[in-house]
Amino acid sequence: MPTKIDMAKFAKFCKDMGFIFQSSEIYGGINGFWDYGPLGVELKKNIKDAWWLDMVRNPPPGPDGQEIRMVGLDCAIIMNPKVWVASGHVGTFADPTRKCPGCGKFTRADQLWPILAESDWMNSLIQEFDPGTGKYDSNRLMKWAKGKGQKLAPNLALVKNPEVTLSFLATRVNGQPDAPPNLQEFTRYLATEQLHATGLQEPCPACGAPLGEAKQVSLMFESHAGLEKTEDAKVYLRPETAQGIFANYRNVLDSTRLKLPFGIAQVGKAFRNEVTPRNFTFRSREFEQMEIEFFCHPDESMKWYQYWRDLRKKWYSTLGVKSENLVPREQGKEELAHYSIGTTDIEYMFPFSDEPQELEGVAHRGCFDLTAHAKHSGNDKLNYFDEERWNADSTGRSTNSFKEWLKTNPPATDVEKYQFTPHVIEPSAGADRFTLAVLCEAYTEDKVPDAKGNEETRVVMKFHPRLAPIKAAIFPLVNKDGMPEKAMSLYRSLKPHFNVFFDDKGAVGRRYRRQDEAGTPFCITIDGETLKDDTVTIRDRDTLKQERVPMSQVRATIERALTPGV
Ligand code: GAP
Repeated sequence: MPTKIDMAKFAKFCKDMGFIFQSSEIYGGINGFWDYGPLGVELKKNIKDAWWLDMVRNPPPGPDGQEIRMVGLDCAIIMNPKVWVASGHVGTFADPTRKCPGCGKFTRADQLWPILAESDWMNSLIQEFDPGTGKYDSNRLMKWAKGKGQKLAPNLALVKNPEVTLSFLATRVNGQPDAPPNLQEFTRYLATEQLHATGLQEPCPACGAPLGEAKQVSLMFESHAGLEKTEDAKVYLRPETAQGIFANYRNVLDSTRLKLPFGIAQVGKAFRNEVTPRNFTFRSREFEQMEIEFFCHPDESMKWYQYWRDLRKKWYSTLGVKSENLVPREQGKEELAHYSIGTTDIEYMFPFSDEPQELEGVAHRGCFDLTAHAKHSGNDKLNYFDEERWNADSTGRSTNSFKEWLKTNPPATDVEKYQFTPHVIEPSAGADRFTLAVLCEAYTEDKVPDAKGNEETRVVMKFHPRLAPIKAAIFPLVNKDGMPEKAMSLYRSLKPHFNVFFDDKGAVGRRYRRQDEAGTPFCITIDGETLKDDTVTIRDRDTLKQERVPMSQVRATIERALTPGV
């Protein structure tokens, strides 16, 4: 991976292995919500822990080789709703959406064609004509309309009224042999009710009915705080973790006495009422973000923007994502969010798509948020006072008190030298999106010799050891001669340090296969030799090589593989 794969098959593998389950599956599931199983929860936790360690506790030096100061926060999911007015979310956080008059479902207007391309009816219909030439066979389309179409797209014009649609096609498509329509045009013809329609209509991906006009629909999840369900009690589930950081900017500054530049980080849930959740967990309605707001002097902001773009891309590579699958893409001016001066998306070549898709956005937010919160909250302290510079520039000044000096009405440009609103660079990553990317990247099918030396296909999850849900599995070769006891004792000695797994069931080859599918980098076997000289074999998941090492060195061997490296 990631060459293109059947996501339904992949989702089944993830379910069977205990990585990801559909939420509330026993009740038929709920669209856009997912649960992590026993292996998935370890994988996602390792991702969040690696991010926290590498970005917050131990970030690499800054662009000039300096130490970077980072601190963390853990804010409430529900905040004063005024936060979301100030941030612009209440006013503008919406997607263009089209409602289907036939089945009532909503589709994102700006993603209609990719969603249609994935729909069951489109995939079935596509077999019936050649979109390259636009040629079609009316008999085949008629047969489809009366058969599969009835079930898959009951409201498509072609299905409801095949004779009219086919004669319409004859005038519009075969009538213009020199200009064969592309797939999108052809699909519009199939959905258009009237023979002489002037405007062609786009069909609903669920039922085929012509879709209504696009309208902006808010993505904010609403609830009420307290027992009264009134407008005054209305609150929102946060759509991003960032605003908790901005709202606490002054608290962090006052409690830590941090000096610019510095970053505040947060990992936590975010909620968006996505119109069309899709592509497994890629676009969910509940997901987790790993966000940094990095505050710096405006004059240094471009340097830090560059620094975070490079560092964040590198971070994914150090955790095993191949560079060729990572594509940084500078957003066009028309794509930028309302707060952004510039944004680079770090995109990943997910196997469900022909185009790379966003894994993380690194945005230059300028001073948008602090300025907006200062204005809406009336708090005039959401700025930064550069005390060091103020003290350094003391010669020739009548007073050492900044407040007193302000009373002398100095020019604004002089004041801004000492007191200004910091600019913010925001690397904003999705924990669930990266978990999905890691699963896709790790999934490998290869051929290995079985116990008798015959080739067999194995599925192996080639996780980076730091991310692997289980770090090592410990096997007694056979369940006798003191091997299980020895294996159990090794297992117990490793358990406080790593997530390890003890397995004494079945043939050892089968035990290896199970661990390959779980992505366990090391399998440690206690055998006859162990009883004589206290050595064990360590099998490497990827090379299949077995190394014999003293039992006392097992922990150090695993630790070496888990050493961070950004
Ligand atoms: N604070 C900026 C912000 O929230 P964003 O690009 O909307 O920016 C940042 O989101 C990251 O959050 C995305 O790059 C993605 O990894 C993740 N994300 C956003 N919406 C998501 C969704 N519906 N499902 C899963 N992850 C999502």
